[in-house]
Amino acid sequence: MRPEFPLFPEQASTVAAHVDALYYFLIGVSLFFATLIFLLVVSFAIKYRRRSEDERPQPIHGDLRLELVWTIIPLGIAMLIFVWGANLYFTLSSPPSDALNLYVVGKQWMWKIQHPTGQREINQLHVPVGQPVKLTMTSEDVIHSFFVPAFRIKMDVVPGRYTTTWFEATKAGEYHLFCTEYCGTNHSRMIGRVVVMEPVQYEQWLQSGNGTGGVAVGEAPMVVGARLFKEQRCVTCHAGSVGGLVLGPSLAGLFGKAVQLQTGETVTADESYLRESILNPTAKIVAGYQPLMPTYQGQISEDELFQLIAYIRSLEQATETTGEAKVEP
Ligand code: CUA
Repeated sequence: MRPEFPLFPEQASTVAAHVDALYYFLIGVSLFFATLIFLLVVSFAIKYRRRSEDERPQPIHGDLRLELVWTIIPLGIAMLIFVWGANLYFTLSSPPSDALNLYVVGKQWMWKIQHPTGQREINQLHVPVGQPVKLTMTSEDVIHSFFVPAFRIKMDVVPGRYTTTWFEATKAGEYHLFCTEYCGTNHSRMIGRVVVMEPVQYEQWLQSGNGTGGVAVGEAPMVVGARLFKEQRCVTCHAGSVGGLVLGPSLAGLFGKAVQLQTGETVTADESYLRESILNPTAKIVAGYQPLMPTYQGQISEDELFQLIAYIRSLEQATETTGEAKVEP
C-alpha cells in the first residue's frame, strides 16, 4: 500500500504482495455482491411493490437456467479462492532449503532469539535483506503468537512443540513484531522489532558483538550443543559403544533423513522428531534398537534443546562411517 493511505502495513517480504492480492480479491468479491444484492433488493422492492389492495401476485415456478447460473458462478468463485489460498498457504508453510535457521523461544513476556552464529537477542531480530529466514519456535509457558505485519506472517508459538514460519525481507528497515495471542498481564508489551539490514551492514552487525542494544554474542548453538552432547552423556550410546554393544543409533547424517521405526513406520528426522526423541525417547524406537534411553524431560531447557538439535543438524555432512562430528566441543 502507498504510504499516503496507511490502511495496510508496509509490504516488506516476498509474500506480502501475494497475500494482499488475495485479500483485495476477497474484499472486491464481497463488495461486488453486497452492492449487487443491495441494489436488487431496493429495485425489486420498487418494481414489484403492491399497487392496489386486491392485487394478487403470480405464482413463480422454477427456472433451471437461473438455478444453474447461481450455482455454477459461486462455485467457480469459491474454488478460485480455495486454490489461490491453498497455493499461498503452501508457499508460506514451506521454507526454502537455503534459509537461515533461527530459533525463537517465547515466554511471558518476551521473545528470545538465537542465531546460528551465536548472537542472542531479546525482543529484537536482526536479519539481512534478500535472504530467506526460517524460524523454529516454541514457548516456555503459554501460547504466544509471532506476528510481523509487514511480512504478512503470523504463527502460534506453542509450549511442548515446535512450529515454524519463514520470510524473506525485501526492504531494509525496522518493522513491528507483536505477540497476537493473549498470554497474560503484559501481553500487550510482548512486542519487539525486526531490523532488516543490507548484507554489508548485517555482516558488520554479526561482527560487532556486544553493545548494540541487547545483543549478546555467545558460542554458536551447535558448539554449545556439542558440549551438552558430552555432558548429558548422549555421546556414550550415540557415538560409541558400551562393552562392544552399540546401544543407540548413530546421529551422523541423520537430520532430514527418513528413519525406519520398529513399528515399520518411516518418519523424517526433523526438529520435532529430535525433540520428541530427547524428551520422550520411547515414543518412536528406531528399528533394531531397544528402548533404553532415559527421558530428558525437565532436565534440559528449551534453549538447550535447540542447541542439541543445532549440533545434531551440524552432523549432516559428516561421513556416516566414522560418525565423527563436524564441530568438536
Ligand atoms: Cu505472548 Cu501475548
